[in-house]
Amino acid sequence: MTNVVVLISGSGTNLQALIDAKQKGELPVTISAVISNRPNVKGLERAQAAGIETLVIDHKDYASRELFDAELQARIDEFDPHLVVLAGFMRILTEGFTRHYSARMLNIHPSLLPKYQGLHTHQRALEAGDTEHGVTVHFVTPELDGGPNVIQAVVAIVEGDTVESLAQRVQAQEHVIYPMAVSWFAEKRLSMDNHQSVLDNEVLPPSGYVLDTRMK
Ligand code: GAR
Repeated sequence: MTNVVVLISGSGTNLQALIDAKQKGELPVTISAVISNRPNVKGLERAQAAGIETLVIDHKDYASRELFDAELQARIDEFDPHLVVLAGFMRILTEGFTRHYSARMLNIHPSLLPKYQGLHTHQRALEAGDTEHGVTVHFVTPELDGGPNVIQAVVAIVEGDTVESLAQRVQAQEHVIYPMAVSWFAEKRLSMDNHQSVLDNEVLPPSGYVLDTRMK
């Protein structure tokens, strides 16, 4: 069984989607630990309710990014994971850390990458007058929000959308595509080769696999 460690910083709805998919028999993984860089967040409660071991490694206790990442890496590696899943983990990672987990770390980002790397993605899409927005799962490389895309869900921006309404529709899709991507990895259908995502022996396009919810 594919052994996964999930890193969170907050509410953990993406973690919950993974837990739910596993409980439905749709995700052949063992989540051996959930690690948060913030204490007392809702995601830790979700993990505990599912009987998953939790750890808090508070970044505020470390004098530098390097020291924090070194401790995080050491603690993750105690679980010997095949895959590290960043699920709303809101820390910029050091290059050494990303290289250590090269081709075995996924992230989810609320935009159609490479558009809108960084923060406030929903607001930026609305302000730009975009007609579509979405969410991307990608392999993590040293470049922030820059590794090869695995899957994107495209969501229409509609008249009257606010940051909240848009975020809600995008989040609903996050909870669909993250379990899909993790299950592909677990089933050994997905890998990263030569800085490209490969699914079922085919190199994916730069967008990754596209799930277009506008068709519905
Ligand atoms: C999600 O919307 C995820 O896409 C975003 O944080 C949220 C976490 O929600 N991640 C990023 O912005 C990463 N750059 P959750 O804790 O409820 O899963």
